Amino acid sequence: MTVNPAPTIVRIPPGLRLPKSLQQLMFSVSRRMTLDALRRRYGPAFSLNLIIGRAVVISDPALVRQLFLTSTDIVGRLENHLGLVLGPYSLFSVEGEVHQQHRKLLAPPLHGHRMQSYEAIVEEETMREAASWPEDRPVEMFTPMTRITLNVMLRAIFGTEGAELDELRVLTLRLTTLGTRLFLLPVPRIDLGRLTPWGAFNRYRRQFDAIIDALIAKVFADPALAERRDLLSVMLQARYDDGQPMSRREISDEILTLLAAGHETIAGTLAWAIERLCRHPSTLARLAVEADAGGTELRRAAILEVQRVRPVVDMAGRRVLADSVRLEWVIPRGYSIVVGITLMHSDDSLYVDASTFNPDRFVGVRPDRDAWVPFGGGYRRCIGAAFAEMEMDIVLRTLLREFELSTTSEPDERWRSRGITFVPAKGGRAVVRRRRGASPDPATSHRSRLRPRSGEASLEADREDHCDLEGD
Ligand code: HEM
Repeated sequence: MTVNPAPTIVRIPPGLRLPKSLQQLMFSVSRRMTLDALRRRYGPAFSLNLIIGRAVVISDPALVRQLFLTSTDIVGRLENHLGLVLGPYSLFSVEGEVHQQHRKLLAPPLHGHRMQSYEAIVEEETMREAASWPEDRPVEMFTPMTRITLNVMLRAIFGTEGAELDELRVLTLRLTTLGTRLFLLPVPRIDLGRLTPWGAFNRYRRQFDAIIDALIAKVFADPALAERRDLLSVMLQARYDDGQPMSRREISDEILTLLAAGHETIAGTLAWAIERLCRHPSTLARLAVEADAGGTELRRAAILEVQRVRPVVDMAGRRVLADSVRLEWVIPRGYSIVVGITLMHSDDSLYVDASTFNPDRFVGVRPDRDAWVPFGGGYRRCIGAAFAEMEMDIVLRTLLREFELSTTSEPDERWRSRGITFVPAKGGRAVVRRRRGASPDPATSHRSRLRPRSGEASLEADREDHCDLEGD
């Protein structure tokens, strides 16, 4: 005789008793304000009923740790449209065993000592971009940072430059700008040619795939393939446990994923870094002295602190796949469990004087991995975190060595949602002035030879056609 296990008793944290359309409206109009108000009212776990489904939002480090460490059979990726945009083989789309295998192939070139090999590219791209900056008048920093980060990612992936990369630069921006809209808005997936959003998206994607195919053919034709260290060559030579290579479609989806996830996030954080530092003169002065002396400690602490007070991605989450998951509460299948990154980072019970920008809190101290989570955590933690840390450090170091940033008493910039990321509302405006003869580094002396590349004018136009969704 078999005994049926006792049915699980569901226990959901408290939440608003409003119709879901109203809850969705509040969430869409001002996600940050809504979450903040609910945390004040209900504490570090509350529920929400949204059109896309029911969710529990958590901001208690112990619960967050438990969620991130829960097996991937029990909780999986959040249900969203990213798979439609980035493709079925993107890390954001795959689950379970396939997800683990993709991570195993993609992680090595994005970790450890490999990071040093990208530093020269980052410095060169920063110098190329900064060569044309006007002095003594406010410059919006987010757009130039986007150009730097996209160029860096393209060079890290393909290892070379050339006409194909110029085309990819423009296409990536078109795909990510349009893709963000399609990800957020329930646009029917109808392709009636270039006049419909999906038609335009599919056309750009076909062009993107054709260029990737051409670049793959070039890499295979390279007799020095075995020595190449660019991400594309690494992917082409990688093998799954059963000895099979990644398919072309898998490679194309993962390249689009790395390009999309790996440029706007870093650019937004750098724009916030400039916005914060221009309002904190003494920290800025100490950072300039440290950069001239070849130091790193305060700069690294400042980057950690920028990511704490201004995380560009405000939420990470999982969906319950099993009958239920027990995280103090008992949350049933189908629910989303969302980590409120901004909620945790702004919690006075976790950080002394949490709203104050104070890089010194991280000098000589590593952040608590459960309470400082700008890169999410666990099995799906951001695969580009080490790359992002390296890139932010080198861009900031180069700027501090080459430029004086004027400080300002203007009010703090507000948060502006670009759909997935939150960036400074005015792009992180700053007034810069070149430090005459200050560069101690020979790598920067060829600045005058570095010019913007072809394709960057149209990149600018695409970027201006951005998608700002919320002035929060
Ligand atoms: C400051 C920069 C960045 C921030 C704040 C950021 C943030 C995040 C967050 C919050 C997640 C979700 C993690 C989770 O669910 O636990 C994520 C995932 C991911 N990020 Fe990043 N990211 C950054 C840079 C990058 C870069 C440079 C790359 C590529 C080189 C990248 C590629 C990815 C990918 C592929 C995933 C999906 C990982 C998976 O599902 O296994 N990110 N990122």
